Amino acid sequence: MSEALHARIAARTARISVIGQGYVGLPLAVAFAKAGFTVTGLDNDPDRAAALGSGRSHVPDVPSEELQALLRAGRYRAASDSGALAGSDVIVICVPTPLRKSKDPDISYVVAAAEEAAARYQPGQLVVLESTTYPGSTEELLLPMFEARGARIGLDLFVAFSPERIDPGNPVFKVGDIPKVVGGVTPACTELAAALYRQIVPRVHPVSGPKVAELVKLYENVFRNVNIALANEFALMCRRLGVDTREVIDAAATKPFGFMAFYPGPGIGGHCIPVDPLYLSWKMRANGFESRFIALADDINRAMPRHVLDLVVETLNEGGLAVKGARALVLGVAYKRGVGDTRESPAHEIVADLRRMGAEVAYADPHVPTFGDLKAVEPTEEILREADCVVIVTDHPEFDYAAVARHARRVVDTRQSLPVPRDRRQAWTRL
Ligand SMILES: NC(=O)c1ccc[n+]([C@@H]2O[C@H](COP(=O)([O-])OP(=O)(O)OC[C@H]3O[C@@H](n4cnc5c(N)ncnc54)[C@H](O)[C@@H]3O)[C@@H](O)[C@H]2O)c1
Repeated sequence: MSEALHARIAARTARISVIGQGYVGLPLAVAFAKAGFTVTGLDNDPDRAAALGSGRSHVPDVPSEELQALLRAGRYRAASDSGALAGSDVIVICVPTPLRKSKDPDISYVVAAAEEAAARYQPGQLVVLESTTYPGSTEELLLPMFEARGARIGLDLFVAFSPERIDPGNPVFKVGDIPKVVGGVTPACTELAAALYRQIVPRVHPVSGPKVAELVKLYENVFRNVNIALANEFALMCRRLGVDTREVIDAAATKPFGFMAFYPGPGIGGHCIPVDPLYLSWKMRANGFESRFIALADDINRAMPRHVLDLVVETLNEGGLAVKGARALVLGVAYKRGVGDTRESPAHEIVADLRRMGAEVAYADPHVPTFGDLKAVEPTEEILREADCVVIVTDHPEFDYAAVARHARRVVDTRQSLPVPRDRRQAWTRL
């Protein structure tokens, strides 16, 4: 069975279904379709599936024209009914893995998607989980569902975990440029999953099992989270010492080895960095182990929006103004530059706190037309001049920072987008 599937993968005649057509699943489905496979993109949000089916992409990294060409060629189709999984040779699961309010993992999406796949199990299939999750998920959650339907793993069903490392909005590294780590339940599972990904990426790195692959992703994101926290705490220290953080980090980055630059910011956001490390610490707690680095980094990063608020208060205060009644213009509400994703963005807390304290808040973001009950404004010269304080939260490349420097009266710059202020008339506070 493994050989038959191998042959279909090599000939690119294997029918692939990707469950979840979000930031991860859609680019992946499109990459397989572009490689010549026939791909079904399944999403249980009927509006999303309908939009994709009519050639409208919601992911900036996937241009609608590209999707339309694949639809026309019959290589891609979108569906919202899980019946569309029938007849798949390969099923890849790319559904969300958020946190519950209690900050515990919410793996209900993975469970639901895996149930849908297992309900349509047919011998000879390969199932790959790509959603970031806690170590042990693939074996503890997925396997029993398929085994209950008679599947024998490694013989007539092949199961692997392969973490998604896509960086939405990154113009240099797209799905097809990033090496894939693959860990199958058995060697045959790893081999098949590796063969699959070799069709679309330049390099596949097989590991000894799914738990290793799950941990690879978590380690990568814990690494980022901890280093961002270090940069954030370092920024607080530099501020007390009257030193510009960016100048120090940029100088340190001239060391050609043993140093990697991370920069401070208003807090962490998105679906990954604030969330994934807590999947690991949750699992470790169940194993009687407290992961102190993760807890500390999480504390420091989650306190940053509050720190930004303090900077706004100080900056207005220096100008003899209170937050109450002040006009604040927030530049950027997406969690990072170049994307329209506001999930977990520190802008939520910053905007809410400013409004709670009585500020009149407006925001500009070329990627986010509405934010809660607010509508984006154009950061024109007049709007910049009118604001008592401009708060740069997301350093979108579309913003005209020279205009901000020229026209804004006061700026809290959490991304070091403006140069170091040269004199007291430049009331810019850099993080
Ligand atoms: N966004 C990123 O930058 C990124 C990067 C690497 C890894 N990841 C991981 O990839 C996974 C997916 O993240 P995302 O950003 O693509 O999420 P997303 O919210 O953008 O997309 C998930 C999609 O899955 C759909 N869905 C949910 N349950 C479903 C089901 N049972 N059947 C069919 N469709 C279903 C949703 O409607 C949604 O469209 C997560 O585990 C995330 O941690 C995300």
